[in-house]
Amino acid sequence: MDRATFFAIMGAFPTGVGIVTAMDEQNEPRGLTSNALCSVSATPPLMLVCVDKNSNTLPALRHSKKFVVNYLSAGRGDLANMFASKEPDKFQNVSWRPASNGMPWLHTDTIAHAVCNISQELDAGDHLIFLAEVTDGSPPAPGTHPLMYFRRTYGTWHD
Ligand SMILES: Cc1cc2nc3c(=O)[nH]c(=O)nc-3n(C[C@H](O)[C@H](O)[C@H](O)COP(=O)(O)O)c2cc1C
Repeated sequence: MDRATFFAIMGAFPTGVGIVTAMDEQNEPRGLTSNALCSVSATPPLMLVCVDKNSNTLPALRHSKKFVVNYLSAGRGDLANMFASKEPDKFQNVSWRPASNGMPWLHTDTIAHAVCNISQELDAGDHLIFLAEVTDGSPPAPGTHPLMYFRRTYGTWHD
């Protein structure tokens, strides 16, 4: 099928927006915006993320074998766009601290985070699938709202 139709169909599925972060070999924080994030198993707790083989964050994921999924709060579309860019220092004006696995937690811009240890890397076309055990994290507090993505547009969830 043609690429535009594939993207249009995939874009019909509303998602939240995450920033997947890891530390690189120089101990510098790296990250990319992702909505290909999925819960996989409850026992053990597993999730997956899909990462483009051209991603500059990929070496950090492979080096650390860990990551954090930072689930963005409503209104953080600019931050999502910045982490979807090829900007070399994406963390310059972002507050973060190490999560329990040492990977960057964007604690002021997120409603939740998942702390992950990579268990498998699977080849999938122009992407890689990282299957990971979720070892820790924080759920959303009552009354908080997520950044959402639908048809290439950001929005939020209304109760
Ligand atoms: C809403 C949204 C969702 C995205 N989801 C993914 C994704 O799941 N996997 C991926 O590899 N890229 C995804 N991207 C594109 C990357 O964020 C983009 O290619 C980015 O430049 C990668 O940064 P890096 O090369 O510094 O790792 C998404 C972009 C946006 C705006």
